[in-house]
Amino acid sequence: MAPEFFRVFRAFREKQFMPRNDLLLKALAGHKVERPPVWMMRQAGRYLPSFRKLKSQYDFFERVRNPEMACEITMMPVHQVGVDAAILFSDILVVPQAMGIDIKMIESRGPVVPVPVRTKDQIDALITTGIAGRLDYVMKAIRLTLNELNDTVPLIGFAGAPWTILCYVIQGGSSKTFDTALAFCEEHPALAHRLLSKITGATLDYLHAKAAAGVHAIQLFDSWAGLLDRTGYEEFSHRYNKQIIHELKDKLPVILFAKDRGDELDVLAGSGAAAMGIDWNINPEAARRLTQNKITLQGNLNPSVLLDDEEVVREETRKMISRFGTQRYIANLGHGILPETPVENAIAFVETVKNFKAD
Ligand code: CP3
Repeated sequence: MAPEFFRVFRAFREKQFMPRNDLLLKALAGHKVERPPVWMMRQAGRYLPSFRKLKSQYDFFERVRNPEMACEITMMPVHQVGVDAAILFSDILVVPQAMGIDIKMIESRGPVVPVPVRTKDQIDALITTGIAGRLDYVMKAIRLTLNELNDTVPLIGFAGAPWTILCYVIQGGSSKTFDTALAFCEEHPALAHRLLSKITGATLDYLHAKAAAGVHAIQLFDSWAGLLDRTGYEEFSHRYNKQIIHELKDKLPVILFAKDRGDELDVLAGSGAAAMGIDWNINPEAARRLTQNKITLQGNLNPSVLLDDEEVVREETRKMISRFGTQRYIANLGHGILPETPVENAIAFVETVKNFKAD
C-alpha cells in the first residue's frame, strides 16, 4: 500500500490516541514539561456531591458494572476540578470477583468477603482464564470514557497489587492490621504463593486488556505494602509487582504506589516502573536522594491538608512543588482524597499546581 496511506493512518491514530494535554505522559517519560501535571488518587469519589447523589440510588458494584455510569463518574473530576488526567471509576476488587470470589461493598464497613479464601481447595478453585472477558464492562467503560474525553486528558487504568488483593480475600474484608492474612502467609507460605501467582496471572490478563482498550497509563495500588517487613515485602509483594510491571512496561507507563515503603524507594525504583507514587511519610528531598533523580515521583501531600483552610492548601501545595522540583514530577496526594474534603479545596490544590511559578 502507498506510504502516504500509512502516513495519514499514523497521523489519524496518533491524533485519536494522544491527548492534547500530554503533561502526565511527558512527566512519565521523563520529558521536559512547562509545569507538573496534577491528579488526585480516588478523585472520582465520595467528596463530590454529584457522586453522592448517584450513590444514594445505586449499589457500589452496580455503579462499577454499568459502563455509562462509570464513564459519567470518571468525567466528574475532569469537569469539576480540572485535573490533568482521568482515572477510570472502578475498584481493585473487580479482579478477585472475576476469579470467582464473592465480594460485597457494605456502607460504613467497606468491602466484605463472606467466604474468605483460606484453604488449598479454595485457591485451586479460583478462575484465572477469561478474566478480561468477564470484566468486559470495564473495557466498555474505557471505550466510552475515551470517547467522552475526546483527546483532552489521558486516561489512567489501575489494578491492585497482588499482595493488597490477598490481604482482602484472606482477611475477609477491611482491617487495620490484616492479622489473619499476615498469619496465613507465615503459616502457609506455599499456599500464599499459589494464591499470589493466580492473582498475578489474572491481573496481567486484565491489564493487557485495559491497555488494548486504550488507557494511556496504569497505576498499581499496593495500599497495604507497609504491613510486611523488608524481606517479607520482597517475597510476598514486590516480586509479583515486578512481574506485572515487566510484562507491561513496553506497552505503556506504569506507576507503582507502594504505601509506607518510602525508605526502600531505591530498591522499588528498579522495578521498571515509569514513576513511583509516594506517601507523606517520606519527604521530597529523601525521595529524590534515594532515587537519584532518575525516576519520576508522584505525590505526596497529606490528604488531611485538604481539610484545612484554602490558603493553607495553596501554601502547602506550593511548598511541596518547590521541594520536588517541576520536572520528573506528578503532583498528587500521598493517598486517596478524604470523603469529607470540600470540593473548593480540591480545586485550590489543582489550581495551585497549574499556576505554579518557580521562584
Ligand atoms: O481513584 C479513583 O477515583 C478511581 C476509583 C477507585 C475506587 N477505588 C472507587 C471506590 C480506585 C482507584 C479505587 C482503588 C481501591 N479500592 C484501593 C486502592 C487505593 C487506596 O485507597 O488505597 C483499595 C484498597 C480499594 C478497596 C476499597 N474500595 C475499599 C477499602 C473501599 C471502602 C473504603 C473507601 O475508601 O470508601 C472501597 C470502596 C470505594 N471504591 C469507593 C469508591 C468511590 C467508596 C464506596 C462508595 O461510594 O460506596
